Amino acid sequence: MNHKIKTSIFKFLSVLPANAGMHLYHFLQNFSENKNLSVKIKSSEETFTTFIQICEKLNIQIKDRSVIEIGSGWLPIMPYFFLYKGKTKNVFTYDLNTHYQKKSIEHFNSVFSTEFNQTIVPVKNNAYSLPEGVHYFPSQNIIKADIPKVDIIFSRFVLEHVTPEDILEMHQKFKSSLEKGSYIVHFISPSDHRAYTDRSLSLQDFLKYSPKEWDAIQTKFDYHNRLRLPQYLDIFKSLGYEIVYLTSDSTKEGTPNFDLFKKLNIHDDYKNYSDQELTAGNINIVLKV
Ligand SMILES: C[S@@+](CC[C@H](N)C(=O)[O-])C[C@H]1O[C@@H](n2cnc3c(N)ncnc32)[C@H](O)[C@@H]1O
Repeated sequence: MNHKIKTSIFKFLSVLPANAGMHLYHFLQNFSENKNLSVKIKSSEETFTTFIQICEKLNIQIKDRSVIEIGSGWLPIMPYFFLYKGKTKNVFTYDLNTHYQKKSIEHFNSVFSTEFNQTIVPVKNNAYSLPEGVHYFPSQNIIKADIPKVDIIFSRFVLEHVTPEDILEMHQKFKSSLEKGSYIVHFISPSDHRAYTDRSLSLQDFLKYSPKEWDAIQTKFDYHNRLRLPQYLDIFKSLGYEIVYLTSDSTKEGTPNFDLFKKLNIHDDYKNYSDQELTAGNINIVLKV
């Protein structure tokens, strides 16, 4: 959907009474999330393949281990990859919202089992038709939730939607509640998400706005913190985390995306960063507790 239409819809939803806005958001988003299911499965499968490559490189075992997923989203796609491909024992998945729906998951179960030749047996009377090993904690902020001791904490496309203060608090909590030697793996997408549906926009378009201007554009439904790679690193380092793996890509000179980026009048808040730091995208990072 065109980002201008999307922003207008989110603006309209954000002026409705909180419950009504969230209900309508859930209804509309549920419709679009369950479209293109195979594209979503493919994209998560790519993440899982990268995740496995990282684990092999760092010698991290996931078989028979337990994982926390921050930000379950709409379907248990990553938990199923952990469970059925990674042979993980338990995945505890937390989300601020309650996006999972039994009917959608029943459909997803049948698509996933056909696509990956996997028998999925939902636990009897499970409210979401989830199999043994997938534990869903909806309407829970990971910062406030009681979390089990796990070997790995994982997130995919979540941190960019969390305020810097909450990222700090979240990682303070992980540091004090996980065993030494556990890992935290984040896949972060720091680019301006509006550019995904509008090729005329730079992937860094939102860096031209002041915080006030950006807050007037975004809503709680599409919040993006705009943090640049060095800012994430500062947060993790300030808490004493060891960064054991880090990759990101950056917009290369001579490409149309770089030309779009160079046309931007970057806001003063970002003036001290290099082009490479400003355009760093697709951040994959592993922290060791
Ligand atoms: C963009 S979605 C990504 C969902 C999924 N990980 C994926 O890859 O499709 C981000 C999700 O993170 C959840 N989220 C954000 N902050 C959170 C927090 N503090 N605790 C739990 N969930 C959170 C949001 O509610 C949202 O469902």
